[in-house]
Amino acid sequence: MNTHESTSRRHAWHAAVTLACTLLAGCSFMAVQTAPVKPASAARSEAALRADTLFWKTLHDGDYDGIPRAMQAVKGAYLQTPGDAVTAAHVGFLHIWRLAESARQESLLPSITDDAVLARKFFQEAVALHPGEARYQGFLASSMLAEAAIHKDEKLTRQGYFTMLDAIDAWPEFNLFTAGYVMSPQPAESARFKEGLAWQWRTLDECVGATVDRRNPAFDSYMKLATQTGPNRVCWNSWIAPHNFEGFFMNMGDMLVKAGDWQTAQKIYANAKLSPDYAQWKFNGVLEDRIARAEANVAAFNLPGRNKAAGDNVVMNHTRFACAGCHQK
Ligand code: HEC
Repeated sequence: MNTHESTSRRHAWHAAVTLACTLLAGCSFMAVQTAPVKPASAARSEAALRADTLFWKTLHDGDYDGIPRAMQAVKGAYLQTPGDAVTAAHVGFLHIWRLAESARQESLLPSITDDAVLARKFFQEAVALHPGEARYQGFLASSMLAEAAIHKDEKLTRQGYFTMLDAIDAWPEFNLFTAGYVMSPQPAESARFKEGLAWQWRTLDECVGATVDRRNPAFDSYMKLATQTGPNRVCWNSWIAPHNFEGFFMNMGDMLVKAGDWQTAQKIYANAKLSPDYAQWKFNGVLEDRIARAEANVAAFNLPGRNKAAGDNVVMNHTRFACAGCHQK
C-alpha cells in the first residue's frame, strides 16, 4: 500500500468516526459508554476479613464512637480491593449509621451532611459490583433520598424514590420496612408518610403470608413462623440484627402514634414483647415508656424538624438508636 492510499484511508476513517460521534451526540459520550465495567473481585482479602470483624463488633456493640476506627479499617481494605462489594457496602453502612444516629453528637456540625454523599457513593459502588443484593439497593435508595434532601435536589429525590420502589420489588420483606422507615420523619399528613405507614402493614402481611388484622394486630399466632432462612428471615431476629423484631414494632408503633392512632400503636408496640430476646433488648424500657405515653406522644412526635430537647422522645428514626435499636446485642 502506498503512502497516499494509507493517508486517504486514514482520512476516510477519521471522517466516519467524526460523523458517528456527531450523530451520537459527541465522542465523549461514545468513549464513556464503551468504557470497561469495573470488575468485582473474586476473593476477599485478609484486610477485608479483618475489617469485617471490627465492623460487626462496632455495630453489634452499638459503639457509635468506634465508627472512625472501623471506618479506617474498612476504607483501608476498600483501597486495596475496590472490587469488593461487601467492603464497599460496609463503608456505606458506617456513613449512614453516623448520619442516622447524629442525635448522639454533642454539637452537630454542618459537615455531618458529607455522610449522606459518601453513603450514596459507596452503596452505588456496592450495587454496581453486586446488582442482585437487594438490601444494598434499599440502602442506596435511602442514601439518595438523604443526599437529595440536603441539596434540595428534586431530580435525585425522584431517582431515590424509584430506586426504592425497585428495591421493594426485589425483596419486599426487607425493603418495605426500609422504605417506610425513611419516610417516618415526613409530616404525618403527607402522602409520603402515609405510604410509608402502609408499607409497614404490608411488611407484616408479606412476613406472615396473610392479611394481618388492622384493628387487632396481635402477633401471637404468627410466632411459629419464625425462620433463619429464605427471604422471610429478615422478619425475625438473627445474628445480623439481634433485635430486628423488637425494633420493627417500635418504629411501626411510633408511626401509628404520629398518625394519631395511639390505641393501635399500643397493640403494635406490645408485639415486641413476644420476642424470645425481649428481656435482653437494651431498649425494652424505652418501648414500655412509649406504650405508657402513647397518647401524649401524638403531639411530641409531630413537632417539626430535629428537636434536641426532646431527646429520644421522637420517632425512632431520629433517636440515638436509629440503627442500634435492631443491631445492638
Ligand atoms: C427494624 C430493624 C432495623 C433497623 C432500624 C436497621 N436495620 Fe439493618 N438490618 C435489619 C435486618 C432485618 C437486616 C437483614 C438481616 C439479614 O439479611 O438476615 C439488616 C441488615 C443490615 C446489615 C447487613 C448487611 C449485610 O451485608 O449483611 C447492616 C450492615 C445493617 N443492616 C446496618 C444498619 C444501619 C447502619 C442502620 C441504621 C441506619 C440499620 N441497619 C437499621 C434490621 C434493621
